[in-house]
Amino acid sequence: RKRVVSGVQPTGALHLGNYLGAIKNWISLQDTYETFFFIVDLHAVTLPYETKDLSKATKDTAAIYLACGVDISKASVFVQSHVRAHAELMWLLSSTTPIGWLNRMIQFKEKSRKAGDENVGVALLTYPVLMAADILLYQSDFVPVGDDQKQHLELTRQLAERVNNLYGGRKWKKMGGRGGSIFKIPEPLIPPTGARVMSLTDGLSKMSKSAPSDQSRINLLDPKDVIANKIKRCKTDSFTWLEFDNPDRPECNNLLCIYQLVSGKTKEEVAQECQSMSWGTFKPLITDAVIDHLQPIQARYEEIMSEPSYLDGVLAEGAAKATDIADTTLNNVYQAMGFLRR
Ligand code: TYM
Repeated sequence: RKRVVSGVQPTGALHLGNYLGAIKNWISLQDTYETFFFIVDLHAVTLPYETKDLSKATKDTAAIYLACGVDISKASVFVQSHVRAHAELMWLLSSTTPIGWLNRMIQFKEKSRKAGDENVGVALLTYPVLMAADILLYQSDFVPVGDDQKQHLELTRQLAERVNNLYGGRKWKKMGGRGGSIFKIPEPLIPPTGARVMSLTDGLSKMSKSAPSDQSRINLLDPKDVIANKIKRCKTDSFTWLEFDNPDRPECNNLLCIYQLVSGKTKEEVAQECQSMSWGTFKPLITDAVIDHLQPIQARYEEIMSEPSYLDGVLAEGAAKATDIADTTLNNVYQAMGFLRR
């Protein structure tokens, strides 16, 4: 079976962008593919963070995966740092990653500009190499992510090809390996709608965990009244009708896309339903649709968190399964690169 992997960082509350851009799309893949969904805690330490919050955030994120519909009878759910091969492969890959490739990463440029030179750890630069390791370890076919990860996926593909060329094929055979490709070349799966959910307070910047104002995002665990209040106060415009895809109306397009996805309607249905609506009519409609969609997720989250040991078991089982597969790839890489094996 073809394989799918993806992950979210356990930093701050997960929001509608993480859900609509990524997690929601994982659910439909579980039946067809062999799926691995991890919580990327090693990625979460690339910017200054609170040590006392990391383990809780990691468990919370796992609980949210399950609450959103990740089904552990089909998918493996685990914590990245529990599978040592991730950090190990990252080191091996970093020896063949040109530093220029990393310097070009948009997220690195943005995050390092914000953090200031003295606060930028080396890991912020090498972060995409760890992400490549996450993906390549599982010989993944598809990686469902939001639009902001496209560049990291492109780097992963280039890196996989580079390693295959440098160490794979006949050279690997001479080292006693099976020859051929060491890594499969993965493809991103980016949804047609929801790949870039925008901020509620500025339709030109993306909804993000790190934006200073909580008003700019809807968190998956926000209570009803908080959601209602955020939508009530969100940025709109002075037009008296609603429409998709008008570049002068980014807020309007964003809210219609959110409504489309949480209501389960098609774009045409939403365009039809909302075209002659005013903001005053639309806002209560989208508020109810968001609340109705998130309510069962929140209820399942509470249920999962009420039994703390349950998650430990899920994560242990997930890590065991992942370790088997990851170690096979890792051993191949050591062999192909010519290391003396124990
Ligand atoms: P992270 O934690 O920033 O985001 C998790 C997922 O949510 C998507 N996303 C969005 N989608 C739509 N609109 C938004 N406003 C929005 N904000 C975030 C992201 O595209 C992502 O899919 N480096 C990754 C985590 C990672 C990973 C991996 C993903 C590490 N290793 C291997 C896939 C495979 C990250 O920081 O995502």
